[in-house]
Amino acid sequence: MIAVTGATGYTGSLLVRRLLAEGETVRCLVRPETDAGTLEQLGAEVVRGDFEASEGIGGALGGARIVLHLASIRYVRSVLESVDKTIERLVLVSSLRRFSLVPDPTVDEVVAAEALVLESQLPWVLLRPSMIYGPGDDRNISRLATGLRRRRILPIPGQGCYLHQPVYVEDVVAAILAAAAKPDIDHRSYALAGLEPLSYDALVDAVGAAIGVRPFKIHLPLWLVLCGLGAARGLGLRPAVDRAQVLRLQEDKAYSIAEAQTDLAYVPLAFAAGLNRIYGG
Ligand SMILES: NC(=O)c1ccc[n+]([C@@H]2O[C@H](COP(=O)([O-])OP(=O)(O)OC[C@H]3O[C@@H](n4cnc5c(N)ncnc54)[C@H](OP(=O)(O)O)[C@@H]3O)[C@@H](O)[C@H]2O)c1
Repeated sequence: MIAVTGATGYTGSLLVRRLLAEGETVRCLVRPETDAGTLEQLGAEVVRGDFEASEGIGGALGGARIVLHLASIRYVRSVLESVDKTIERLVLVSSLRRFSLVPDPTVDEVVAAEALVLESQLPWVLLRPSMIYGPGDDRNISRLATGLRRRRILPIPGQGCYLHQPVYVEDVVAAILAAAAKPDIDHRSYALAGLEPLSYDALVDAVGAAIGVRPFKIHLPLWLVLCGLGAARGLGLRPAVDRAQVLRLQEDKAYSIAEAQTDLAYVPLAFAAGLNRIYGG
């Protein structure tokens, strides 16, 4: 039996479909208030639990041959404590955000969680995706596309020249499946990013081209954006983006995927090819 956390999420729901299609027996940890109807209809076993309340974790993960943890890496302590010591493989999905140099508690959380993983003797494999995109509401590229369809004018904090390497969701799922199955890769970590990096400006233009919109990009001086955010906070407003997000946009997010290519037969799509899968005719 394979246990999956985060099975109702964007990547997890696709992963569970793939596992069931391959004939696996799948048990999903799902929060008590979350609709698990689709998972049950597909044939997955659903066990209710919540990492925040430390409820149901042992019941969901105990007895599993393989555990695929996609709910946030910040819950990894519970996972490490709840899986059987005889488990064959524990695939933990973290984030390439852990390499960000922008001071941010969410980055510190990932780094602290990964430190627990590194200490563990369990047969773990750590996967670090970059920004995940794909069909439906990926909450990343899909929202940029929706915004551009409404208004082709796009204010961009800074120069838009920093690199990004988004990863197509099916490539992440394929890597998780490979990491679950491949022998002799215990205690290794892999970056999962798209085939090649591109600048934020090029990313916006590629999305525009895919949806038939020519974006009109307005580059705003960084100092102006940061002052604006500070002033908004001072007035008690809650801007849609926070300071750390704006600063992370100014970091190069280009990663080597060579190890995943070698060990996991990882062949990710280039960004234009991924967009074509989503928006192509
Ligand atoms: N999306 C990205 O761009 C991106 C980039 C890098 C890394 N990652 C990592 O990749 C993994 C999958 O990302 P995703 O975007 O596909 O995930 P997602 O759509 O945000 O889904 C998160 C999943 O975790 C579950 N979950 C949240 N809190 C929980 C709790 N307290 N107890 C039990 N389950 C809980 C959610 O359940 P509910 O349905 O009940 O909310 C949901 O199934 C995550 O670990 C994420 O941090 C994502």
